[in-house]
Amino acid sequence: MKIVSILNQKGGSGKTTLTTNLAFALSLQKQKVLIVDSDPQGSASDWGNETGGEIVPVVGLNRPKSLPKDIEAVSNGYDYVLIDGAPQLSDQMSSAIRVSDIVLIPVQPSPYDIWAAASLVDAIKQRQELGSELKAFFVISRAITNTNLAGEVKGALSEYGLPSFTSSTTQKISYSSSAAAGKTVFQTNDKKAQSEVESIAKELMELK
Ligand SMILES: Nc1ncnc2c1ncn2[C@@H]1O[C@H](COP(=O)(O)OP(=O)(O)O)[C@@H](O)[C@H]1O
Ligand SMILES: [Mg+2]
Repeated sequence: MKIVSILNQKGGSGKTTLTTNLAFALSLQKQKVLIVDSDPQGSASDWGNETGGEIVPVVGLNRPKSLPKDIEAVSNGYDYVLIDGAPQLSDQMSSAIRVSDIVLIPVQPSPYDIWAAASLVDAIKQRQELGSELKAFFVISRAITNTNLAGEVKGALSEYGLPSFTSSTTQKISYSSSAAAGKTVFQTNDKKAQSEVESIAKELMELK
């Protein structure tokens, strides 16, 4: 079982959207997936409630102190537990970093968003320097098609010393319209969005 946190202290960076879509893409690859909503705002839980957990089950766990124990109590039998992160460098975020095998950092291709990731990157590096096996990657999120911005952004991100996933998501209405109904892009006919998320899922599954 792998615990994957989707973290970024910036609201609107695409954490919940990546969590729900990635969860479904992994389940298409025959993986058993549980979403843990660590955000007290409960967006992933709201999403799950729309379809009664039919797409992917969601549990809300937002007590930072007991997160490791709480995850252990619910994660039996799953291949992937995806933790949808809370905004701010909160206790929720620190405890998510502590319990994770992998952190994915969705980041929009804008300088402000890249700068805003600095403190999260520091927290991850501190953990790695303590000898943890934690792996962390940026995933470019909501890139505008037909611009080279995403390419430039990868350069800027590399200065943080964390790798980026090759695959990314672009800005597409299907992500927001499907979320409103508690669904994912896989329940729409947006093949382009589906293939973006599929690539991210495959990249994740290739990690040792
Ligand atoms: N790739 C995308 N294309 C279009 N809209 C997106 C995309 N990713 C996220 N959104 C929309 O942006 C808003 C913020 O995304 P969300 O996943 O809730 O971010 P976070 O969880 O980081 O706050 C939501 O309305 C969501 O539907
Ligand atoms: Mg969210």
